[in-house]
Amino acid sequence: MKRRTFFKLGVLGTALTFVKPSKAGELISSTVSDPNFGSVVISTWDHGLAANDNAWKVLGKGGAALDAVEKGVRTTENDLSNRSVGIGGRPDRDGHVTLDACIMDERSRCGAVAYLEGIKHPISVARTVMENTPHVMLVGAGAKQFALDYGFPKVKSPLKEVKQDWKEWKKEHKEVFEKPVINHENHDTIGMLAIDDKGNLSGACTTSGWGYKLPGRVGDSPIIGAGLFVDNEVGAACATGLGEAVIRIAGSHTVVELMRQGKSPEEACKLAVERIIAKHEDLEGLQVGFLALNKRGEYGGYSVYNGFNYAVTDDNTGSKLVDAKSDRNW
Ligand code: GLY
Repeated sequence: MKRRTFFKLGVLGTALTFVKPSKAGELISSTVSDPNFGSVVISTWDHGLAANDNAWKVLGKGGAALDAVEKGVRTTENDLSNRSVGIGGRPDRDGHVTLDACIMDERSRCGAVAYLEGIKHPISVARTVMENTPHVMLVGAGAKQFALDYGFPKVKSPLKEVKQDWKEWKKEHKEVFEKPVINHENHDTIGMLAIDDKGNLSGACTTSGWGYKLPGRVGDSPIIGAGLFVDNEVGAACATGLGEAVIRIAGSHTVVELMRQGKSPEEACKLAVERIIAKHEDLEGLQVGFLALNKRGEYGGYSVYNGFNYAVTDDNTGSKLVDAKSDRNW
């Protein structure tokens, strides 16, 4: 697997001080940002390329990062051929497609839905929770009722062909009532982070979760601090892969806090990956990837195993797919 370094310097080529040590040694953050750094959007996996394109339709016109990330990940939710995001996703063990999503903006406002069935755009329901309720997360039947009350149409899931696959899978996996097995080829989750031309950060994360998961299972993706975290003073992070491992270390929050301590986005992701590795005796099949974007528009990623890639779109280079670094081969 080809590996690359993918840091991007601000177009000014100078470091804008956004976190600096005080006399007492603690860190003080400044929200000052320089619009000259330009807008950037990054997102997980190759499905991120199409998602970034749509996010850029907002960012490229001077729109807000929040609008960009919502529009961006809706692209993936709309893609019925995607088996790990949206209603085209694989169902749980019992044949129900249940969706998880969250969104967070530059004001630390956040919204999430989990275990949501029969609604095409969980990310927009998450945003509606954020903007219209005093709550952060709605789940299951309550989340669905909320979505219907706000006019989101009901859709059928699983898709016919997904249901057929699930039936085959059940026949071949008599052990399904014990412990499902994660497949690292099952590119789960789109996590997207963006900074707009005002220097504001937002993020979004959406998934159908672990294919053939136990009914009731919720992963990291809708959990603020695990699948996604944004602190507009510092940066933003998101995660993909085995949600249980991400939750154990409050993964995305950890990455942002490491950036607050002065780590680059890639270093912060690497340290979070190392923490996951340290917390697990058995790494077999345990893939997790982190992405991070800081206040200067610098970005990076790291994963437990190789094979994780992400899409980057910015003012300078257009769109590209980047292989995240890792220290392990599958
Ligand atoms: N990272 C997605 C999940 O574990 O559900």
